[in-house]
Amino acid sequence: MKKQDVDNAVESLGELRYWYQRIEVAGEVTPVFNKGMAETAFYNRGKWDHFIRPLIPFSPEGRVFVECGCNAGLFLLLAAEMGFSRVLGLEGDDGWYQQARFVLDHYQHQEPEVYKRIRLTHSRIGKSGEGASKSCTIESSCPEKEWSSLPSADLTLLANVLYWIDRESAARYIAELAHTSEYCIVVSVNGSYPLGGPCSKEEVCHAFKNDWQEVQGISPPPLDTRERGRDMFSILFHSRYVPSHLDEKVSVQRGTF
Ligand SMILES: C[S@@+](CC[C@H](N)C(=O)[O-])C[C@H]1O[C@@H](n2cnc3c(N)ncnc32)[C@H](O)[C@@H]1O
Repeated sequence: MKKQDVDNAVESLGELRYWYQRIEVAGEVTPVFNKGMAETAFYNRGKWDHFIRPLIPFSPEGRVFVECGCNAGLFLLLAAEMGFSRVLGLEGDDGWYQQARFVLDHYQHQEPEVYKRIRLTHSRIGKSGEGASKSCTIESSCPEKEWSSLPSADLTLLANVLYWIDRESAARYIAELAHTSEYCIVVSVNGSYPLGGPCSKEEVCHAFKNDWQEVQGISPPPLDTRERGRDMFSILFHSRYVPSHLDEKVSVQRGTF
C-alpha cells in the first residue's frame, strides 16, 4: 500500500472511531486520541510491558492467546511477535473492529510467517454496560458470542474491558471462561463504573474467586510524570477446572479456531 493510501485509510478509520491504540502501520503512527497518555506505562506498549508481559506464565511456543476487547489489535500483534502459536481477538465495536482488520491485514502482508497466526472475530461478549465508560459506549451491530463457542485458550487477556460489559454477562463470562482458558490476565483500574462488570481490584478478585485462583498480581509502577495518576493493576488467574499443561504443549490441538 502506498503511503498516501495508508494515510487516507488511517484518517477515515479514525472518523469511524477515534484511535485508542497507537500502532505503526507502514511507517505511520496512528493518531491516538490522547497523545499525553499514549506512551505512558498505562497505555499501549507500556501496558503490555508493565502489566501483561511480566505475568505471562509460560513460553509462548505452542500456546493459544485470546484477547477479548482487542480494539485495534495491538496486543494481538505483540502476542504473535512474542511467539504464540495462535492468537485470536474478539472485538465488539464496529469502528474498532474495522481498525483492527486494517492493521492486521497490513501486518499479514508484511510479515506473513508471524502474522498469519492471528485471527480476528467481530463479536462481543454479552451486552455493553450502559454508561460503563463515560467517554464512550460500545455501539455495535455484531452478534453476541455464544458461550459454548468460546475458543479454547492457554491464556485469555481481559485488558480494560470487563467494566464495559454488563454485570450479569461479565459474571457469566468469567465463570464460563474457567472451562475454556487455563490462565486469564485481567488489567483494570481502581475506579468504579457502576453499570458495567467488575472494575476495581476488590471487585475483580471477588468476581474470580469461585472459579479461578489468583496466581500473581502487579500494582502500579512508580507514576510516570506524564500520567494523570491512573491507579491501574493487573492480576494473573489460573482456572480451577482446566488442567495445567505447563509441561505439555497440547493446546494447539485443543484449540477450536
Ligand atoms: C478500553 S478499550 C481496551 C482495549 C485494549 N484491550 C487495551 O487494553 O488497549 C475496551 C475495548 O473492549 C471492547 N469491548 C467492550 N465491550 C466488549 C464486549 N462485550 N465484547 C467484545 N469487546 C468489547 C471495546 O469496543 C474496546 O475496544
